[in-house]
Amino acid sequence: MEKRNLGELEVSALGLGCMGMSEFYGKIDEKEAANTLHTAIDNGINFLDTANVYGNGHNEEFIGKVLKDRRNEFMIATKFGFVRDPEKGVGISAKPDDVRSEVEKSLRRLRMNTIDLYYLHRVDPTIPIEETVGVMSDLVREGKVRYLGLSEVSASTLKRAIKVHPISALQTEYSLWSRDLESIIPVARVLGVGIVPYSPLGRGFLSGKVKSIDDLAPDDYRRHLPRFQGENFKRNVDLVNKLEEIAKEKGVKASQLALAWLLQQGDDIIPIPGTKHVNYLLENIEALNITLSGDELLQIDKVSSQILGNRYGELSMKYTNM
Ligand SMILES: NC(=O)c1ccc[n+]([C@@H]2O[C@H](COP(=O)([O-])OP(=O)(O)OC[C@H]3O[C@@H](n4cnc5c(N)ncnc54)[C@H](OP(=O)(O)O)[C@@H]3O)[C@@H](O)[C@H]2O)c1
Repeated sequence: MEKRNLGELEVSALGLGCMGMSEFYGKIDEKEAANTLHTAIDNGINFLDTANVYGNGHNEEFIGKVLKDRRNEFMIATKFGFVRDPEKGVGISAKPDDVRSEVEKSLRRLRMNTIDLYYLHRVDPTIPIEETVGVMSDLVREGKVRYLGLSEVSASTLKRAIKVHPISALQTEYSLWSRDLESIIPVARVLGVGIVPYSPLGRGFLSGKVKSIDDLAPDDYRRHLPRFQGENFKRNVDLVNKLEEIAKEKGVKASQLALAWLLQQGDDIIPIPGTKHVNYLLENIEALNITLSGDELLQIDKVSSQILGNRYGELSMKYTNM
């Protein structure tokens, strides 16, 4: 598979998002999820994305268990920053002591000695970014982590962070229906920071497989997102229908169109579509062979500009591009 660079870290042009193997997007079949991990590596994907918070440690544990005999065949990216408290709910902490204890827990769960790429998941507004990146850079010196990344940070935060330690990757939501990152990409490029679009399939919506809210289980996380609600959802379904028409004309799937579009935005862009199904994974890999013409890009742009609703609810939006 084609390789791309996140700073000095070389990875496959497409990664695999593992979050849904633990929670958020419906029923999980662990055997199928394990097969998906193995199939990804067998097909040249060597960049796996997880976080301490996914399934409250389950996701890291699962990857560590399933791939314990294949450690030298892939790069692991994980994150810290979200904290789940049974009483207070979800919070954010980048307190130095928390960073130090979380990296140890992640290494233990992953059954690894080193994390290839360690991200701050969300900026902790109570701690200057210089302090957080300072602690992260200690972890590099100690050999616990190889490269550093930041998730959902603004251009100015990125510039401040990079004065403390090189930042290899910026991971932010980026897809046909989430394009606010485009104002930060030019700055990231100048700084030599690679781009990792998360939710590149619009959390599955851009595949055209979610056209009725009843397609989602009652506890599916997406039901909480404004784009999956009420009138926004109805209008967005009309738009995904148009994407499907463009895809059909080209003889590909809407999901592949969405990934090909991202891959074509620059060779410093490494999307991490999430799936726990082998057939979806194989379809997603095929997107690497699709090239979109100028006319197709224009048609896609038109659809993309009409999406309705914020990508998160009000509170979570405050912690994006921070
Ligand atoms: N930094 C952050 O704050 C942040 C936030 C969210 C996610 N992430 C990371 O980014 C990764 C990817 O994002 P995501 O999982 O949220 O969203 P996504 O990649 O946009 O979409 C995932 C959804 O799409 C479905 N899907 C995948 N391939 C498909 C295909 N070919 N056809 C039809 N449906 C398909 C999956 O189904 P199945 O699950 O049924 O296979 C899943 O429901 C995550 O796994 C996680 O590692 C990071």
